[in-house]
Amino acid sequence: MQNSSVNAQSNFQSCSPAPPLVSACDRAMMKRCIELARRALGRTTPNPLVGAVIVQNGEIVGEGFHPGAGKPHAEVFALRQAGDNARGATIYVSLEPCNHYGRTPPCSEALIAAQVAKVVVGMVDPNPLVSGSGIERLRKAGIEVVVGVEEEACRQLNEAFIHRILYQRPLGILKYAMTLDGKIATISGHSTWVTGAESRALVHQLRAACDAVIIGGNTLRLDNPHLTSHHPDAHNPLRVVMTRTLNLPLNAHLWQTADAPTLVLTETEAHPDLREQLLNKGVEVVTLKPLTPAKAMAYLYDRQLSMVLWECGGTLSARAIADGTVQKVLAFIAPKIVGGQFAPSPVGDLGLATMTDALTLERVSWRQLGSDYVVEGYLP
Ligand SMILES: NC(=O)c1ccc[n+]([C@@H]2O[C@H](COP(=O)([O-])OP(=O)(O)OC[C@H]3O[C@@H](n4cnc5c(N)ncnc54)[C@H](OP(=O)(O)O)[C@@H]3O)[C@@H](O)[C@H]2O)c1
Ligand SMILES: [Zn+2]
Repeated sequence: MQNSSVNAQSNFQSCSPAPPLVSACDRAMMKRCIELARRALGRTTPNPLVGAVIVQNGEIVGEGFHPGAGKPHAEVFALRQAGDNARGATIYVSLEPCNHYGRTPPCSEALIAAQVAKVVVGMVDPNPLVSGSGIERLRKAGIEVVVGVEEEACRQLNEAFIHRILYQRPLGILKYAMTLDGKIATISGHSTWVTGAESRALVHQLRAACDAVIIGGNTLRLDNPHLTSHHPDAHNPLRVVMTRTLNLPLNAHLWQTADAPTLVLTETEAHPDLREQLLNKGVEVVTLKPLTPAKAMAYLYDRQLSMVLWECGGTLSARAIADGTVQKVLAFIAPKIVGGQFAPSPVGDLGLATMTDALTLERVSWRQLGSDYVVEGYLP
């Protein structure tokens, strides 16, 4: 984990004076805030990712990011680094400074005490109860506040946090890899690997940004996955197996909890021996009755999680969609054909009879990764 204050000298950048309303420099500084914030990817839940940069006379004199819940906010690290140079300076921060006493004192007061001249905010706080109050407090103290610089990028950075605040549920992302003929495995259930190395590297990065990854019992039995981010410094998500039967093997990569934590969600009291052995290996086993994706997501929300990746097969993914627990889809498509009338596809039965009933993704984007394509979009 890197230090949350960043060496200002090594990151020296200059800004031209006399900026227009929102200058290229303002945008560059906000992008730098986002870059800093991303250093804590996967580690801040239930808090947002936030970065801050302080600029005095066209030079960066302080930088910081929020490293995780209970730790100081980005502005505090940046102010510490800037010291006296914060007086009369401009601070850029990707999210509206907080204005309430939580686990840490309000950043609005710290900025006023440091006598900064101007605050440039990426986006307002999405919580309707406090939204705008930090900005108002700063303006009342005579500080100039500009809001909405690189707003879309700031919102994208914290899309899971925003979803969590607005809907009291984690953001659900369904990710799958399929062949050109729409299969996620062959007729025998074999699926390693559908896509190429570049796509798999992106999945590892995605896991590092997520708080949990969910699979169904069948995927565990057939694939025996690791579900880690495959990088020594990256965050590993909580690995969750949903199984109604608890009919799981005694040996599985997921039971190696030194790599990453594992949680088994089940609705049965059967297999007490297996349950006991899993507990001995450090695996958590939790009973939720009835076991549904909606219940699982409510439980993960209560455990303070914000971003959950569904990496299951079609049976569970269909239930997850039907339950309204999937907001975003990431489909990796490989230029391969495996055929097989009964080879599994990414989404099982949704009960939709006509094409006019199809769930149509919004805000869709495509990109090529090696010889694969990735389609990203949001369910309405
Ligand atoms: N290419 C890819 O991206 C990808 C990703 C994942 C999987 N796969 C492939 O998909 C195949 C497995 O697909 P699948 O659809 O059988 O597996 P799945 O959706 O991952 O697992 C289904 C299992 O989920 C459990 N479950 C728990 N709660 C449930 C609920 N409310 N509703 C339904 N199921 C619930 C049940 O486990 P119990 O039976 O233990 O009770 C059920 O059998 C494998 O061949 C695997 O290789 C491919
Ligand atoms: Zn704060």
